Order: sequence, then structure tokens, then C-alpha cells
Amino acid sequence: MSTYNFDQEIDRKNTNSFKWDNPLYEGRDILPMPVADMDFRIADELTDTIKNINDHGVIGYSIVPETLKLAYQKKIKEAYDWDTHIDWQVWIPGIVPGLTLACSTFVSSSQHILTPIPVYHPFHLVAKWVDRSLLTFNMVENDGRWVYDFIEFENQLKKNPGVFLFCNPHNPGGTVFNVDEIARIIDLCNQYKCMILSDEIHADLLLETTVKHTSIGKYLSVDFPAISFFATSKTYNTAGMGGAVAIIPNVEIRDKFIKHSQGIFPMLTRNSIEIMQTSLTMKNEWLGTLLVYLRSNHDLLFSFVNNINGLKMLPLEATYLAWIQYDSKILGDFQERLFQNGLHVLRGEQFLGKNFIRVNIACTKKSLEKAILIMQKTIDETS
Ligand SMILES: Cc1ncc(COP(=O)(O)O)c(C=O)c1O
Repeated sequence: MSTYNFDQEIDRKNTNSFKWDNPLYEGRDILPMPVADMDFRIADELTDTIKNINDHGVIGYSIVPETLKLAYQKKIKEAYDWDTHIDWQVWIPGIVPGLTLACSTFVSSSQHILTPIPVYHPFHLVAKWVDRSLLTFNMVENDGRWVYDFIEFENQLKKNPGVFLFCNPHNPGGTVFNVDEIARIIDLCNQYKCMILSDEIHADLLLETTVKHTSIGKYLSVDFPAISFFATSKTYNTAGMGGAVAIIPNVEIRDKFIKHSQGIFPMLTRNSIEIMQTSLTMKNEWLGTLLVYLRSNHDLLFSFVNNINGLKMLPLEATYLAWIQYDSKILGDFQERLFQNGLHVLRGEQFLGKNFIRVNIACTKKSLEKAILIMQKTIDETS
């Protein structure tokens, strides 16, 4: 019997929650399923870590200890079969700041930033943030998965982007890129001399049990311009603590990245350091229980959605972010209609995808059932 019960309802209102205390909900009863965090209590080992820090009561500046460096190195080897050196690690406050810094550092003002779409919104917004132009190519459906349109990808690479932003597993849509796809990405980026920034924050949230996460860094030589980003925060639901690591094998790229981060990135907090350390060294009961729960939520939503005329969802290989296509000729502005009926999900447009909604399924089954009832009611009201 597992110690963890993910059916436990935890009231997150009035906790300064980005998800639950959204000012848009003022005075209304809205079920929130937008922001990518989970409604679940974290592992006991992590609450103990926070308690120990609180009991000690001193929170000054902190350093990343050797034990954390070794623990991440071990994790990358054991989980993704990639041999890395600890001096390749650069500790950063979060992956989005890391991607942004890399884009502003390594993309010249005449170059572009290349991303597949739809994609996690910072991947396209970053171009505006750092004043560079954006190049995109489409993901297409193939054999029940969202994959790259490699022809479009190559055409965009010909326009000289400075970086290619690789989201693996992909948010939204949940694709875990396989070894063949990764080999093709490397060949193309190598041919057009494009740096790869690989965001692997969802690597441990594998819903399809036959799928394995592959780190692109494993197949790149030390000379290849690339940065791979990892974090424990998405897996263990500690995003509010921050903390991530950039693996930068090439010393010139590493030095330049560090130089440009100085005075901009804060030192990591004691809380984030100790939370990462515990996440990497505790036993995996919490994560094992979580994945079983998420798979069952996934299956519930998947079978509901795919039985509705005008809705379609491909199975998620990873992530807890369902990507649902709707037919606007049948369902109108489905996201807005759901919101009017009390369910908040994200509009596909936020990710540069039209006629989609993104639904966060990392919630109790009771919440998901409520969301499904609201979806059904909204569909029934369709004239
Ligand atoms: C693909 C991806 N990268 C990065 C992040 C956020 O990373 P961080 O909080 O470390 O900036 C998210 C959060 O949803 C994400 O989905």
C-alpha cells in the first residue's frame, strides 16, 4: 500500500497560488486547470527538508554543494544514460531564465530564434523579450503522435537561426522524441550550424510506459554548440522554489553563458538547493504513485474527449498537459464557453495553436470528473 493518497483534496485558495488565486476568478466559482503545477501535496521527504530549514531558522546566501552536483550527474547517467562531468553544470534559478539568457547571449541581432509550434509560450515569447526575430515550423500528427514537419524545419534552418529551441518532452502535446528523430535533429542542426537549446524539464513525467526519455546531449560531441536544461521542479511539484541546472559541455559556451549571467541571476536559495538534493536522493515512492495516478487521469479524459464529436486528443507520451483539438464550427469558442461554465483551461493560441485547449490533469480525480461534467454541459448546450 502506498503512503500517498492523491485523491486528497487540498484547498489551495488564498495561498498566493498563480493557479487558484487568479484575479480573473474574483467572486466566481471557477475550476482552474491552466498553469502547469500539480494540486498534490509534495513527498514527505520534501516537507521534512523544508521543516528542517525552518527549524534551523537561518537562511543566508547558499552555495551548491558537491553532493548536489554529484547527485545530478548520477541522475543524468542513470535516467538518461548520458555521461556528463560535474564541471559542465551551471546552476540557474530556472529553465526559462536560462533559455532567455542563452538566446540573448548566443543569437546575434541579425539572427533568429527557431522553435516548433505549438509550443510552451516562453519559447516564442523569448524572441520579443530579447529583441530577436522568430522563426517557426509546425508540428504535425503522425501515427498518433505530434512530430516535427522536418521539411519545414530544414527550410527554416536555411534562414540562419542562431538557436533552435528543443522542448523534449514537448509541451504541449507530450511527444517524447525518439532516437531516430533526435538523430535527424542533430544532423540538420549540424548541417546548418545551429546551436541547440534543449529543455528537458518534463523528462521524468512519462505516461506511456513503453517510452524512454532520450537526452540529445548524449549524442553530441563536446564541441557541438548546445545547452541541455534539467530541473527536478516539474517532477516533484516544487516549481515555486525555483532551481535548475544547465549542462554546457563546451567550455567557451559555458564561460560566455556564466559571464552574461553575472549580476542578473540571483544565487540559488537554500530552499531550492536542499529541495533539489532531496528530490534526487529520496526513494521514488511518491513519483511512482504519481505516475500511476496521472496515467489513470489521462485515460479518463482521453476516452471522454475522443467520444465527443468535434473534440480530439492524441495520447500523451509524457507531461500532465492534455492538448485537445476542437472543431470551432461545431463548438464555437470552446475555451470561452468552458470559462463561462466555470472551467478555466488555456487557449491554444497562447502556444500558437489554433482551435486547441490545454488542460492540466495533475489534479484529483474528483476535480477532473467535475471538469468533464462542465465540458459535457458545454457540449450539450451547443445549438
Ligand atoms: C517546457 C517547460 N520548460 C520550462 C518550464 C518552467 O521552468 P522554470 O520554472 O524552471 O523556469 C515549464 C513550465 O511549465 C515548461 O513546461
